[in-house]
Amino acid sequence: MKRLALVLALSAPLAALGGDSGLVVFHGKCTRCHGADGRGKAIFNTPSMLTSKLTAAEMEQVIANGRARMPAFKAKLSAEEIKAVAAFIKAELKP
Ligand code: HEC
Repeated sequence: MKRLALVLALSAPLAALGGDSGLVVFHGKCTRCHGADGRGKAIFNTPSMLTSKLTAAEMEQVIANGRARMPAFKAKLSAEEIKAVAAFIKAELKP
């Protein structure tokens, strides 16, 4: 949690310059259901991303095509944005 706060604090100025699209996408489109820390929200029945067994490539598939109540984002995000947000989840959201 401390580490995430630090990452967010350091990333904010970069994000403002468009330097961190994964973080920008995550905060713009995903936290509503997944929570800012990626731990999930009971009301949306979202699994914690911190303990996800999915690889980044598998996450890209879920993000692009959706799964159960997870909406598909391939019409809303570019392939680069989907790659960036999956990489952000894998690299920055740690227990
Ligand atoms: C409307 C709510 C909602 C939004 C918005 C949403 N998700 Fe989800 N997401 C879900 C739900 C619900 C699941 C669980 C799906 C299931 O049960 O199979 C999920 C599952 C996932 C998973 C699979 C996790 C795992 O370990 O199986 C990933 C990865 C994911 N979401 C990424 C994202 C990303 C990235 C975004 C933003 C671009 C996003 N989600 C936006 C509701 C949402």
